[in-house]
Amino acid sequence: MVRTALVTGANRGIGAEVAKGLAHAGLHVVAGVRDPGSAQALVDAVSADGGSVSMLQIDVGDPQSIADAVTRLDADGTAIDVLVNNAGILDNDDLLALDDATIVRTIDVNALGPLRLMRALAGGMSQRGYGRIVNVSSGWGSLADLGPGAYGISKALLNAITVKLAGELPASVKVNAMDPGWVHTDMGGPDAPDTPQQAADTAVWLALIGDDGPTGQLFHDRTAVDWNA
Ligand SMILES: NC(=O)c1ccc[n+]([C@@H]2O[C@H](COP(=O)([O-])OP(=O)(O)OC[C@H]3O[C@@H](n4cnc5c(N)ncnc54)[C@H](OP(=O)(O)O)[C@@H]3O)[C@@H](O)[C@H]2O)c1
Repeated sequence: MVRTALVTGANRGIGAEVAKGLAHAGLHVVAGVRDPGSAQALVDAVSADGGSVSMLQIDVGDPQSIADAVTRLDADGTAIDVLVNNAGILDNDDLLALDDATIVRTIDVNALGPLRLMRALAGGMSQRGYGRIVNVSSGWGSLADLGPGAYGISKALLNAITVKLAGELPASVKVNAMDPGWVHTDMGGPDAPDTPQQAADTAVWLALIGDDGPTGQLFHDRTAVDWNA
């Protein structure tokens, strides 16, 4: 049975490597992207590797866009077994310097969008008796090391949502978060030490964990870490 994974922000950075990794593992990958035209390199790479990928237009900061995307999945008869909430944005100002719109946007994209997707998709996972949800968080979501602006509080909220939903969902649906480290992407910048491939490894591993695997935990480099480390 071929499982299907939805990866948000799959057109570049860590998300593209997660998408390639899951396709390489034999899953059909639905690449969640804002602009389908931006994902051609991903489609070419997955196809060249013999993998299977399709595109889903979605802006995770827009509840209507999420609802429309879920409607298209349902209309196509596409059941999502694996959800990787990877899409994210970073703001660098002090929290008190940010206006409401910026704060709300960051929390929408980084935390509430993932929650909305989980709410839309976890019911089907539960019914089918299989689900894997991976929330791409950050070391900057730790209360001991909160990141800048609204980013840190949005990732702390994503961590809290991860714990909460792991408690609400059946054991057959695993919900975990991962901290990719400091990664050489558009967000991480050119000085970051880790490659997107290195960062994607833990997300792919969590997306494929067995029925006896963990839920409600935070991982870095395939190792469980404290939420407040
Ligand atoms: N890089 C790091 O050092 C680092 C460290 C810790 C955590 N992370 C986390 O890792 C994840 C991926 O980061 P990255 O480094 O790969 O960042 P990136 O290279 O900047 O890529 C961000 C991805 O998110 C997508 N995205 C942004 N806003 C979106 C929206 N509203 N709807 C749908 N997609 C949206 C982008 O799509 P567009 O091309 O359309 O903009 C892009 O595909 C993020 O959640 C980030 O917070 C990264």
